Amino acid sequence: MNTTSCSGRPLIVGPSEPEKPYPIFVEGAVIKGFGRGSKQLGIPTANLPSDAVKLALTDIPIGVYYGWAQVDGGEVLPMVMSLGWNPFFKNKERSGEVHIIHQFRDDFYGQNLKIAILSYIRAEKDYENLEALVDDINMDIRIAEESLKRSAYTQIKTASFFN
Ligand SMILES: Cc1cc2nc3c(=O)[nH]c(=O)nc-3n(C[C@H](O)[C@H](O)[C@H](O)COP(=O)(O)O)c2cc1C
Repeated sequence: MNTTSCSGRPLIVGPSEPEKPYPIFVEGAVIKGFGRGSKQLGIPTANLPSDAVKLALTDIPIGVYYGWAQVDGGEVLPMVMSLGWNPFFKNKERSGEVHIIHQFRDDFYGQNLKIAILSYIRAEKDYENLEALVDDINMDIRIAEESLKRSAYTQIKTASFFN
């Protein structure tokens, strides 16, 4: 199998099975972000409430992660998450933004979001332009899809947390 993308980033990232402190399970009601995700980037994100970001996500580094997500008890789906200050947009507060790799018909503000964070992908970066940011996020999505195919990662979909 070809394990490197044309951008030069490896398609499989993270150890062969989740390693401590992962999986990290986080749950909260989806809040509104700045709304740039879907409008400017074409990549909608569900923002975690700030208490969940403050409580559950203080011990892991700022950066981009992959794992599984579930909205209101629905299907468990692959996700990528950005944890940090979005240097490209120079946010003032640390946020946790989850892009679920699935086409949803509606947004889901207020609905219950459960995530299992399984591995770090990369550090947050600033970019020359929006296109470069979008290209990197699309690469994160491919990496998440490939990395989550491994059985130790697939297994987490059936964790009792999601039931
Ligand atoms: C997988 C993923 C990776 C991201 N990586 C970066 C990054 O490296 N630098 C950055 O400034 N923002 C990054 N972002 C954050 C986007 O800029 C952010 O989702 C966008 O500004 C939408 O935010 P909003 O919903 O609050 O408007 C990333 C988002 C996702 C989902």
